[in-house]
Amino acid sequence: MIVLGIETSCDETAVSVCKDGNILSNVISSQIAHADFGGVVPEIASREHERMLNTIAIKALTDASIKLTQIQGIAVTSGPGLAGSLLTGVSFAKGLALGLGIQIIPINHLEAHIIANLLEEPKIEFPFICLLVSGGHTQLWLIRKLDDYILLGETRDDAAGEAFDKGARVLGLGYPGGPAIEKCAKKGDPNLIDFPRPLVKSNKVEFSFSGLKTSLLYFMDSYEESIKYNINDVAASYQNAIIDCLISKLKLAVKQTKINTITIAGGVAKNSVLRKQLKEVFPKNKIIFPDLNYCTDNAAMISYLGERKFNLGCKSNFDFGIEPNFQL
Ligand code: KG4
Ligand code: ZN
Repeated sequence: MIVLGIETSCDETAVSVCKDGNILSNVISSQIAHADFGGVVPEIASREHERMLNTIAIKALTDASIKLTQIQGIAVTSGPGLAGSLLTGVSFAKGLALGLGIQIIPINHLEAHIIANLLEEPKIEFPFICLLVSGGHTQLWLIRKLDDYILLGETRDDAAGEAFDKGARVLGLGYPGGPAIEKCAKKGDPNLIDFPRPLVKSNKVEFSFSGLKTSLLYFMDSYEESIKYNINDVAASYQNAIIDCLISKLKLAVKQTKINTITIAGGVAKNSVLRKQLKEVFPKNKIIFPDLNYCTDNAAMISYLGERKFNLGCKSNFDFGIEPNFQL
């Protein structure tokens, strides 16, 4: 089956074609218009999606060498995300599906992030644990099978990606913060500054990052570059604290569920230090690392999950709306 996937939940306009479980194209336009603001401006995001969607869709079809009339179904992110951004993608998808007379399915963005692991390992054995770490979410999931997910725990406040983004803003490193902090951290000492690791001692699967971010803010108030440490050391130590929090709760989830297979998902899953530490901390577990292109927002995960759902017999009529707070 040939499925067109459309993703516009935040600041990436993305379209992909998936045929029989294979990604034929994966086109992403990342909006740079937000860089000056240190974060995503919703109004700008929806206008940019509106401007780019047609071009990106045509490119996805061209890259895949697929004609519009060959598309058999459309999968589109309906939430969670920014309302205006979601609306542009969902309206575009509905118009296209109606015009072509083909089926359409709304996709939960978080589910797509998790299922991106199947692009790496299509024959993955269920159940598995997924650490979902994106700009808006930090959650630990038990995936029993497709469509059967149990939330083991999540953040009480900020997401890990948000901690990277806000931290980078405090350090003057620009947006998005994750890659900027990771780059600086490569030149720094991760053990030099002892930032707090909130909740690591609690026996619950839960995270908290807002206190960590505040402690960085206070630290920088009295910061003066010295022989003792520089900004790279601060970035490395801050990143280390975020990763310690993630890994300690993943350890707890593995212990509680006794499940061997671990997956990661979302933009923060791109982080090379997180990946390295996972291998070191869980030498006996099977760990799946999604391709870097399928960690941050993309439409390959949408077209792929859409096709799997169509094959399971799922479809929708056209009266679904956007769900900015879509829960999985
Ligand atoms: O999954 P994603 O593209 O969008 C959401 O669904 O939120 O994740 C974006 C988040 C941003 O917070 C960004 O700073 C973070 O992923 N990120 C990273 C890295 N690359 C992106 N965080 C840490 N290290 C990275 N290399
Ligand atoms: Zn995402």
